[in-house]
Amino acid sequence: MAYVKSPMNYIGNKYRIMGQIQRWFPRRIGTMIDLFCGGCDVALNTDAGYILANDINYHVIQIFQTFKEQGCARTLDRIDATIERWGLSKTDRDAYLRFRDHYNQTKDPLDLYVLMCFSFNYQFRFNAAHEYNNPFGANRSSFNEVMRGNLLRMFERLDRIEFSALDFTEVDVSGLGAGDFLYADPPYLLTCGSYNDGKRGFKGWSESDDEALFGLLDRIDRQGARFAFSNVSHHKGKRNDRLLAWKTERGYHMHTIDFNYDNCNYHANNRENVTREILVTNY
Ligand SMILES: C[S@@+](CC[C@H](N)C(=O)[O-])C[C@H]1O[C@@H](n2cnc3c(N)ncnc32)[C@H](O)[C@@H]1O
Repeated sequence: MAYVKSPMNYIGNKYRIMGQIQRWFPRRIGTMIDLFCGGCDVALNTDAGYILANDINYHVIQIFQTFKEQGCARTLDRIDATIERWGLSKTDRDAYLRFRDHYNQTKDPLDLYVLMCFSFNYQFRFNAAHEYNNPFGANRSSFNEVMRGNLLRMFERLDRIEFSALDFTEVDVSGLGAGDFLYADPPYLLTCGSYNDGKRGFKGWSESDDEALFGLLDRIDRQGARFAFSNVSHHKGKRNDRLLAWKTERGYHMHTIDFNYDNCNYHANNRENVTREILVTNY
């Protein structure tokens, strides 16, 4: 099956391993909650009666909400007009910096999307004052034809998704029951995702967040709904013992996912450095 790729190139996105994790997803889903949706690769590629995609990063959520409000044609017109008006290209750093200053004053979500398209590694990086501070993606990043194609295909799937920008503990999961499904892809305690470090203007991720999430997943289980939970159990000689103990105690199932962590200096030959990505399910 051909998967739709999010037009965000979001750090930590699940696009490359979509087939591997969806293999374990329920066949029929009533309501789905993608609790840490990020660039939305998973929600965009899952069939369900109703989908709620949530992420604490409200900058990203506002972009998706604006895409929905504006619709495909107006969004694309606006992106093209913005690129032309600000003279954005792969080589003009000054134009990028001028546009970044402009965005940091207006905070327009579509401007943020365009800015991200021309930025280093397509990342959403903010300082503590919530100003976007990602550097220019010189000679590499642009709103190219691939991004345009991804954006067009995304619009075909967007109508069925609602968005919220809440801390995961504030998402109302009380309505989930038999036939419903929650997917949780939080920051991983052990790895190097930059949303872990609190530097993107959001709080970081700690052991107490892991514990709170285990509690929430237990609750989903008690309600008779299904969940799938992505994480990393081993990384650079470290192990997430609490996670492993929790899933064993509860009798949940663990599936190993093959993911090559090039960005985190993963060395396949060095056993000490093995990163093991897992999917825990309650079914
Ligand atoms: C591994 S990424 C998710 C990637 C996503 N599955 C995708 O395919 O793009 C983890 C996400 O958790 C979000 N996050 C971090 N802390 C959170 C919290 N307390 N509540 C909700 N979302 C949070 C981050 O903003 C980040 O987008």
